[in-house]
Amino acid sequence: MQQANADQDFLPLLGTDYIELYVGNAKQSAHYYKTAFGYQELAYSGPETGEKERVSYVLRQNKVTLVLTTPLRPTSSIAEHVHIHGDGVKAIALTVANAQAAFEQTVARGAKPYLNPITLQDDEGVVKMSGIHLYGDTVHLFVERSGYNGIFLPGFRKWETNYRPEPVGLLHVDHCVGNVGWNRMNTWVKFYEDVMGFKNILTFDDKQISTEYSALMSKVMSNGNGYIKFPINEPAEGKKKSQVEEYLDFYNGEGVQHVAIATGNIIETVTALRNRGVEFLHIPDTYYEQLLGRIGPIDEDLQPLQQLGILVDRDEEGYLLQIFTKPVEDRPTLFYEIIQRKGARSFGAGNFKALFEALEREQELRGNL
Ligand code: FE2
Repeated sequence: MQQANADQDFLPLLGTDYIELYVGNAKQSAHYYKTAFGYQELAYSGPETGEKERVSYVLRQNKVTLVLTTPLRPTSSIAEHVHIHGDGVKAIALTVANAQAAFEQTVARGAKPYLNPITLQDDEGVVKMSGIHLYGDTVHLFVERSGYNGIFLPGFRKWETNYRPEPVGLLHVDHCVGNVGWNRMNTWVKFYEDVMGFKNILTFDDKQISTEYSALMSKVMSNGNGYIKFPINEPAEGKKKSQVEEYLDFYNGEGVQHVAIATGNIIETVTALRNRGVEFLHIPDTYYEQLLGRIGPIDEDLQPLQQLGILVDRDEEGYLLQIFTKPVEDRPTLFYEIIQRKGARSFGAGNFKALFEALEREQELRGNL
């Protein structure tokens, strides 16, 4: 038992530090994330701060930090990423107490190095960072910021404008889901087990997540304290094309399918998001007919949930409410989930299937089913 605890602790993670997206036009993306999702402006880096190759805007809402980065020139790894994948998640950065140790521990367990440990420094102190490769062109960064008092990272300055739409109640990153290729799910499950010390807490097979036409499989990986979750999806055989396959086609490879963000009041948050133009998947009224019989009593009225298309499911500890946005770019790739947990720390198969069917209807409208 002592040994198991020691194994779990080789990579203590303090939380999601930030999510970095590589995008075609960071100035316009930043406007969208402020206007539509209520993120607040925080920091900026670009030619004015001495950065000649890229521009980055940093936005924050409570504990969710987004970095939107765009290339300034055609020949860079950022430009190539945008060319191949369109807008998408490049880095899932995790806060750690020791970036050097996180790098050494994970690389010793088989991770492919992405960023050798570096020290960034300015008048506000020191940040140490390192990074390893993940599925596709995605990476995990390890950020050690206990010695830093600045606004974000060395090299960034405060970003302030006169345009500040209100936040919508987004609190923190709940989980980030990766879509990987055929028969690749277990490879990445093993990566999270061996390299990161995570555990597989839940498995959905293709029988549980299938419709008449298509299917996928999913395993949920969680770190030692249960707060950081990375589910991994792979396509499964069906009569028609899996939605994971559609993602892989348009993203040109494996990558982050969705980022789920927690709220303390999903009805208020989703109402605000809809009013600001965020589009959500449509859930048929039939879903709500059997709902209370299936999941038991809940605090919320059914009517606003049905009106907004919010799903409810239960695990052994409580229940959770969830909704998916439509993709936030023209390619059917990255989207967001809004989630409110009321006791449930895991996921339910009923919601997974309902969300899958809603995604499939959109896939059919695009002619990709
Ligand atoms: Fe999710």
